[in-house]
Amino acid sequence: MDFKTELKQYQNQIEQELEKYVRKEACPERILNESMEYSLMAGGKRLRPILVLVTYKLFKDNYEVCMPYAVAIEMIHNFSLIHDDLPAIDNDDIRHGKLTNHKKFNEATAILAGDGLLNNSYIVISEDLLNTSNKYELEKKLKVFNEFSNAVDRMIAGEYVDTEFEGKEISSEYLEYTHKNKTAALLKLCVRMGAILAGAEEKELIKLTDYADKIGLAFQIKDDILSVEGNELITGKPVGNDEAKGKCTYVSKYGLEKSKEILEEMTKDAIEIAEGFGNKAEFLKGLANYIKDRNK
Ligand code: IPE
Ligand code: IPE
Ligand code: MG
Ligand code: MG
Repeated sequence: MDFKTELKQYQNQIEQELEKYVRKEACPERILNESMEYSLMAGGKRLRPILVLVTYKLFKDNYEVCMPYAVAIEMIHNFSLIHDDLPAIDNDDIRHGKLTNHKKFNEATAILAGDGLLNNSYIVISEDLLNTSNKYELEKKLKVFNEFSNAVDRMIAGEYVDTEFEGKEISSEYLEYTHKNKTAALLKLCVRMGAILAGAEEKELIKLTDYADKIGLAFQIKDDILSVEGNELITGKPVGNDEAKGKCTYVSKYGLEKSKEILEEMTKDAIEIAEGFGNKAEFLKGLANYIKDRNK
């Protein structure tokens, strides 16, 4: 199966899984639920949950066991996007080609919808923990739970530093720190969750973590590039907004050409690491290229 077809299959599977967690009942907080659904089901690429599944599949076939973790990370991701778009942070009006959550609803609802998705991710995971009676499986899942919480903590810290440095000069070191925390931390978590849940050995986990570090940073560099030369009709979010806000990005720091060179290099490194896993890692290789070449 070619990469695009396989990606689409995974995306469909994640969409179906996420649907199960959407609350539909009529109740006083109905609008809050709609607001959470609005962002969760807005048509993201679902790369984080897919990473959990495909990393697990390097080692084992029954990848359905990681679905709760795949769902939970997509909830966290959408929480981060809702809050990232708020006036106090990036003040963006459009995402996924639609109004951002606070524009569609209002700020209070968007803040609470983000909080709701954050907390729901923990509900999903804790329910899976409660349903796990095998001691060995439970131990792995508790390790994953701890890494999950720490990665969310890093994403929040990265968002803080990103906001703090708006309109200021940033050192290369702090810029890398921002990108590694606000974006790469969650992508790395996904790869590690899949591997840990599948019982990967430490040396495999180290290699996959290395792969994830590369694609994680590459992902945000590409996001910085798309903010300059992307097509709004395709990215579904404003182009030129990073520059307008004085955001510290790889493009503002190193320029477009150099950023593209760094992106190429990161992708090459990631592919080389994935090659160490043989034919089974074909999709991970494809994903590294997809991150580099994507137009949304
Ligand atoms: C956007 O992430 C935010 C960043 C971390 C750069 P994605 O581009 O993965 O978001 P969606 O869910 O696919 O829209
Ligand atoms: C996104 O950073 C990182 C998180 C949301 C955690 P950006 O602000 O650069 O991403 P976009 O461009 O709004 O998606
Ligand atoms: Mg931001
Ligand atoms: Mg933003």
